[in-house]
Amino acid sequence: MGQCGYNLIHPIIINNAKETQHKLMSNIPIIAGNWKMHGLSDALSTALLIDEPARLSLAKTVIFPPATLLDRLSQTLKAIDSPIEVGGQNCRSELSGAYTGGISAEMLKDAGATRVLVGHSERRHGLKEACELVAKKTLGALRAGLSPMICIGETLEEREAGQTQAVLTRHLSDSLPDALAGKDFQVAYEPVWAIGTGHIPTDSQIVEAMSLIRANLKARFKTGPMPHILYGGSVKPDNAAQLLSLEGVDGLLVGGASLLAKDFTKIIEAAGRDA
Ligand code: 13P
Repeated sequence: MGQCGYNLIHPIIINNAKETQHKLMSNIPIIAGNWKMHGLSDALSTALLIDEPARLSLAKTVIFPPATLLDRLSQTLKAIDSPIEVGGQNCRSELSGAYTGGISAEMLKDAGATRVLVGHSERRHGLKEACELVAKKTLGALRAGLSPMICIGETLEEREAGQTQAVLTRHLSDSLPDALAGKDFQVAYEPVWAIGTGHIPTDSQIVEAMSLIRANLKARFKTGPMPHILYGGSVKPDNAAQLLSLEGVDGLLVGGASLLAKDFTKIIEAAGRDA
């Protein structure tokens, strides 16, 4: 991260109203970059470098920066009328209170976020966050008017024990509150064993998981648009197009490869060009 030399005068003249309207359509892909705990001030230039590919792309581009960059990134993108949205990587479920170090969904929104990740496996497993807490955070996101992106996925042990379906079903039923009905939200399928490992599930494993998730969401949330279902885990420039071509994959949640503008640009471009 930290590409320099960006020219602040953007060379492309666009019709923002048309673009915004078009990119709100529910059937366009979402390409999201989760920067995790990476990025100091110079990372803002990475976002500026992906502004042009984001404008040209058919996809909605989202960046989940560390909380310390959220406000500045949001202001920087707003200043150039960028279509890139920013989101928080986590929130507390409460509105406010004596929670040292905590950040509420309202605070994220106040800093310019439109979305928030909840239930990422690095929090579920690393910090032992249970589905019930993920559901509470999701409610906090809805209360603040943020669109939650709820992450689910099995570990390698669970897959090898034949428990993938059961784990995904449990994550969906226990992490997604009923209040999501009719609301804008997304589910990101991130097999834990694919995150940061370079190991990608087979096409059929991904299609199978997507189909299970879609059937579950359809049965449960009968009103409102069908939520986007994203795939995440070792997405790279050379596998993005193939992953996006799989049935049921509505977008990608990208970790490491979203940190370099040239890699993230290729992934955004893999979604195709806006007409
Ligand atoms: P990687 O793309 O680095 O595997 O990370 C995926 C991820 O955790 C995105 O949320």
